[in-house]
Amino acid sequence: MRLATVLLIQICHGCSYFEVNTSLGTKVMGHTMEFGTFFGVIDWKISVFPRKASVVVSGEGTPAVTLRGPFGYVGMSSHSFVADGMNEKGLIISVQTLYRSDYQHCNPLSKEYTTIWSAMLPNWILATFSTVAEVKDAINSGKYCIYNPVPGRSANTHWSIADAEGNSIVLEYERGQPKIYNNYVGVMTNDPFYPWQVENINTYISITSKDASQSDLQMKIGDQLAGTNEVPKVMGHGFNTFGLPGDPSPPSRFVKMFFERQIALTNSPPKKKVEDWLTLVQGILNSIFIIKGLTGPDTLGHYVEGDHTAWATLRIPKTGFYAVRTYENMRWYTIETQKLDWTKASSHPISHDIRDGFHDVTNALLSQSKDPSFLHVKKQSDEAFFLQMHEEM
Ligand SMILES: *[C@@H]1O[C@H](CO)[C@@H](O)[C@H](O)[C@H]1NC(C)=O
Repeated sequence: MRLATVLLIQICHGCSYFEVNTSLGTKVMGHTMEFGTFFGVIDWKISVFPRKASVVVSGEGTPAVTLRGPFGYVGMSSHSFVADGMNEKGLIISVQTLYRSDYQHCNPLSKEYTTIWSAMLPNWILATFSTVAEVKDAINSGKYCIYNPVPGRSANTHWSIADAEGNSIVLEYERGQPKIYNNYVGVMTNDPFYPWQVENINTYISITSKDASQSDLQMKIGDQLAGTNEVPKVMGHGFNTFGLPGDPSPPSRFVKMFFERQIALTNSPPKKKVEDWLTLVQGILNSIFIIKGLTGPDTLGHYVEGDHTAWATLRIPKTGFYAVRTYENMRWYTIETQKLDWTKASSHPISHDIRDGFHDVTNALLSQSKDPSFLHVKKQSDEAFFLQMHEEM
């Protein structure tokens, strides 16, 4: 079990996180998990961890430290490792790779502090705290020492943590020290460290929410080109985001999510329905989806598959809404966490079969009447009405 966890986090390379402030006084968060599969030992499930569940938070080869927190939580877990979760108070956490992390140098035998393996930090946080402020206090208190006994850098991660009131931070470890940042821009990916990613947004200052129009630079070109007589001229749409990166590297995903969200909110903000906000977040999740093979060859054929968007979550901490979909099955599994029984452990498998996302309408079509009325040309009055509307717009 523990070995599986080590393997799991060693081959999780990607992951994206972003949040949207809605007009409903809530935030909606999207999170993706990119990882390779390894001999089938990774077994993601939606799991409920009950209140006071005992969790071993120490690492391999050190004296076992068991914690019991007051809160129940639900999350995407493989074995005991939670990569994305929400507790009964609406505190949420998202795990993402950060190779360059250097955790604290801890003595596992110390009586002054509790030693916690970085891989088990999500379980500890979700079981123990209800707000971001409490998490910050605990990290800065000196009562806990966060370390990673797994050799190498591939199992290093950082975390996005947010609460029901909308407070949101990034926690990462640099040169053996915790760094806590307010996540003002509401985005997180992977290497390098968070402040660099925020500053890198400035590199893309030319991205705009307006139509790309360069009428002040135009020249006449006679009839050299069919259908136009000047350059430069907008041909088609989307040139306002020309140069916005589309590759799956961490800096590119960071700026892509940032600008897509900002432009969407500027030009076409969702209406006052939570479904409209969830749809926006789903759209941004779609835009950063990583297909298998895109990031490099599989190292051992299909036994070890390279990074791909294995699953994604949608969360609303304030209302306790939690949803998951997988690489293959794009239909959301939804959970109203506030209705869960936090006294019992439970779990639900997730499907990796595209057919579970299908909605077969063959029989519905077969059973309909044969009247092909919908093929009839619309009445002229409909057309007149449409044209009139158009003119008014
Ligand atoms: C959400 O609103 C808070 C409070 O105004 C602000 O600090 C934060 O930057 C906003 N986040 C996003 C992602 O818009």
